[in-house]
Amino acid sequence: MEVQLIIGYATSAVFLVSNCLARLRWAMAIAVVAALLRVGSVGLLWAVDWNAAADHVVLVLPAMLAAILLAPPLLPAARWRRRTAVLAAVLQCYATFVPQAPPYLFTLQMMALVLLLGGALLRGLDDRPRVVLAVFVISALLGTAGAWATSRLPGRLSMANHGNIDLGAAQDPAHTAMAMTTRTGTTSRDIDISTLTGPPTGKPDKAFTLTAQRTRIRLASGQQVEAWTYNGTTPGPELRVKEGELVQVTLVNRDISEGVTLHWHGLDVPNAEDGVAGLTQDAIHPGQRHVYRFVPRQVGTFWYHSHQVSDTQVRRGLFGALVVEPAAPQAVEDLTAVVHSYPTGSHNTTSLALAGAAPSSGVSRRAVKPGTRVRLRILNADNEWRGYTVTGAPFKLAAIDGADLHGPTDITGKSLRVAGAGRNDITFTMPSGPVQLAVSDDENGVGNPIALLTPDGAGKPAPITVNPYLDPTTYGTPGGAPFGPGSHFDRRFTLLLGQGFGFFDGGFLLQRTINGALFPNVPSLMVRKGDLVKVTFLNRSFSEHPMHLHGHHMLVLSRDGRPATGSPWWTDTLQVSPGEHYEVAFRADNPGLWMDHCHNLQHASQGMSMHLMYEGYRTPYQVGTATGNNPE
Ligand code: C2O
Ligand code: CU
Repeated sequence: MEVQLIIGYATSAVFLVSNCLARLRWAMAIAVVAALLRVGSVGLLWAVDWNAAADHVVLVLPAMLAAILLAPPLLPAARWRRRTAVLAAVLQCYATFVPQAPPYLFTLQMMALVLLLGGALLRGLDDRPRVVLAVFVISALLGTAGAWATSRLPGRLSMANHGNIDLGAAQDPAHTAMAMTTRTGTTSRDIDISTLTGPPTGKPDKAFTLTAQRTRIRLASGQQVEAWTYNGTTPGPELRVKEGELVQVTLVNRDISEGVTLHWHGLDVPNAEDGVAGLTQDAIHPGQRHVYRFVPRQVGTFWYHSHQVSDTQVRRGLFGALVVEPAAPQAVEDLTAVVHSYPTGSHNTTSLALAGAAPSSGVSRRAVKPGTRVRLRILNADNEWRGYTVTGAPFKLAAIDGADLHGPTDITGKSLRVAGAGRNDITFTMPSGPVQLAVSDDENGVGNPIALLTPDGAGKPAPITVNPYLDPTTYGTPGGAPFGPGSHFDRRFTLLLGQGFGFFDGGFLLQRTINGALFPNVPSLMVRKGDLVKVTFLNRSFSEHPMHLHGHHMLVLSRDGRPATGSPWWTDTLQVSPGEHYEVAFRADNPGLWMDHCHNLQHASQGMSMHLMYEGYRTPYQVGTATGNNPE
């Protein structure tokens, strides 16, 4: 799909340039060829999915058509052709670079307006060039100022905006009618999500205290990092608990002035324990504390991180591994490998923390007796996906995002691609030689840290290889999924991941949009408890987006129209690459108000964030500069 998009943009550009050519016949010939190519590229996009082609069909092609009709044949004077070419260029740029979302009605109106006003102005260019120029400049300035001003976020804002919801299309019309009766706005009968806590009483089986504090740390490889930490280390302490235990974590903020929280990434805790500043709690400011209590029902690799100003706070170190072990003791060497890029001056240094040790951008070693069963939990605590290469032993991919895979088989000659914020657990039997885990591809920072397991804990790393990536949609064997592509879905949503230039909260930036909008204007997905929900992610942008849904795990149904045929693949953070198209499903079984956002936390902080809302729930918390809460 990326290729189709690039062809499309390129032919648009050729078309526009050709319109400006002085020689009519050449101009027309080139324009016709370019326009045909453009139509062809749109056809290819349409073959992927109507949503991939929609804005091209509805906006870009009509703009092109307008230019064809208006320019060369009717306007033989070269000067006029150039002027209409400019107009066509303005229209196409508007359709292409300003984020758009179906049903495009507003955009079509704006385009018609530009055509009319622009046409009228162009007519007057010969008589009154100064006036025309002044009108152009003034309207451009006014438009820009208006866009800037309306993009400012209010000082106080409820993240649960009941006036802006998406009810989803139901599979049968009767259900749609029922869904449409959903109330908008809150009433006193709505349940306050701050009551949706874990067990409030009872002696915890495991109790931890995590103190957020500023610390200067030294990576094992020597670099100094001005870090923000839990308990003075980053990653913070590795929390290990068992399935079914009552866990209590006390968060203390010593000196992180913006405030902090703790979010249990991938652990589907009760809503009030989810740790999102401004949605499920207030940020915890210096001198304050907050207690989280929950009973983990999942087994696997998770992580915790602050969900207040998370882009900065996670980057600087406010995160750690959270492992939920099975209740029965396991005879395995169980190790975490937490990878993160720390800001070290001019660039980010990628480092790996092995089994709770300090992070190193070089080689981390560990002695493992031959014959031992090993479970290595790879945690990618960053914005971008990473490639990992394991050499020295055949291994299995045992789990993704804290969910075991069904029937995993031995892997050789394949590397692993771990989503931003994602986890991959691998298992293998320790051979008599070394086993090496290396970061083999990385967009997050500089460096290729290595974890080296050897019988004596010594030894030199082997050169890093890059293999083709394992495809989770075909790995393992099917079985055990409670629903699938053929199930009856109560709600179906489509999330178009796009881009465009514009303002967000008063700043001009490359917008990363969901359905053409930014937080808080992306309609929330509204569900009822018990609904089976299908979500389609379609990435129409040129950026990677690891999409993270809080409080639920999503079952991958298909990628790019091809059904997943391997083990059920449950994910909490799905890497949706440019041009990719995923269908996922989840059961709405954890009521409350949940974030659903891109876990490239920079994108999230720039508005690529939305919510999953259960009907009949409200939050007492707010976000905005006046509240001290800023989850991203
Ligand atoms: Cu890892 Cu919304 O978070
Ligand atoms: Cu993103």
